Amino acid sequence: MPDAASSSKPPGESLQTITVVVPTYREVENIPLLVERLGVQRAALGNRLDVLFMDDDSRDGSAELVQGLGLDWVRLITRRSDRGLSQAVLDGLRRATGDVLVVMDADLSHPPEVLPSMLERLRGGADFAVGSRFVAGGTTDDEWGLLRWLNSRIATLMAFPLTRVADPMSGFFMLRKSTFESRSNYNPVGYKIGLELLVKCDCKIVEEVPIHFTDRQLGESKLSLREQLLYLKHVRRLYTYKFSMWTQLVQFLAVGASGLVVNLLLLTLFLSFGMNVKLAPIPAIFLSMVWNFSLNRRFSFSSSDRQPILRQFMAFVSACSFGAVVNYLVTLFVLGFARSPQLAATVGVVAATGFNFAASRLLVFKQTHVVRK
Ligand code: GDD
Ligand code: MN
Repeated sequence: MPDAASSSKPPGESLQTITVVVPTYREVENIPLLVERLGVQRAALGNRLDVLFMDDDSRDGSAELVQGLGLDWVRLITRRSDRGLSQAVLDGLRRATGDVLVVMDADLSHPPEVLPSMLERLRGGADFAVGSRFVAGGTTDDEWGLLRWLNSRIATLMAFPLTRVADPMSGFFMLRKSTFESRSNYNPVGYKIGLELLVKCDCKIVEEVPIHFTDRQLGESKLSLREQLLYLKHVRRLYTYKFSMWTQLVQFLAVGASGLVVNLLLLTLFLSFGMNVKLAPIPAIFLSMVWNFSLNRRFSFSSSDRQPILRQFMAFVSACSFGAVVNYLVTLFVLGFARSPQLAATVGVVAATGFNFAASRLLVFKQTHVVRK
């Protein structure tokens, strides 16, 4: 049982009304079947449920169909700008009026029959309920090929440091409207809007309700290779969000290591052109600094404020030069009591790397626009 004291459940809250947000693109065949099954659940829940189809201008008769149903609890919104699954879902969640928000697919992969038990979880104190394929009792249709299975497993594994949910890829979930509204900095790329919410809404108690995930019978899946590549970008963004400094440090160190390789290659090249051995390190050092700067700007500190590139580069070079001085001074200091010059030099390099990272993070690639709690 969840520990109600540590959840965000306000005392005496009423979770009465539910809005189900369903993103759709060309789902005209599935809409009536889903509405019928949701209707059964609606009756069971005291008619306090409404459905919002967020349709990206499918032009397949979906809009006319929903209008023809003439049900006051079913609406379809035609979206003509800012298209995309996650955008449609966020748009729908913002428009939704229920105390409780649900997101589910239109293609009947997600069974509406588990809505009451998801609601029970929220009423019991959970912040977020996930319709899950990968907890005890959860299943998928067996026709999953090895590739699809592997794909799904790898994607899930990549999300592991972000959330301990067994099925963070699920597009079927429920949360309070107030939980959703406690943040506004949602910025998903690609498909995984549930993961975005899980990471950003600070949900303490997440519970998974087992579902049988049915493969779609009608219409076509829209999950493309492009969406999967976007997932990589999304995961990187969420890592940066959640472990800001550590992700930056790991990338900074990787860039530094690559800079060392670039430096050595250039040095070898210049020497092979017959350049003086005392001069060759100068362009090699400068160019590897340019290399490090570009990669750090593009990757390690990509979420930082955009500033004039030349000024930023000068700041980076100054920081690195100062870092070299730190390196030298620390080496001398350690030499004072350690016998090994190699040891002293190593400590010097580590100190200088730490200094360079701190200076890059706090001075060169400043970040002022992100408001975190
Ligand atoms: N509005 C809108 N715009 N809806 C979209 C778009 C879009 O660009 N693309 C897809 N949809 C809708 C579909 O109509 C469907 O209702 C739902 O989003 C999911 O699309 P599918 O094409 O059925 O996706 P899937 O089955 O490959 O992926 C599902 O399973 C994954 C886990 O295996 C989704 O639930 C994913 O969120 C989930 O991660
Ligand atoms: Mn589907």
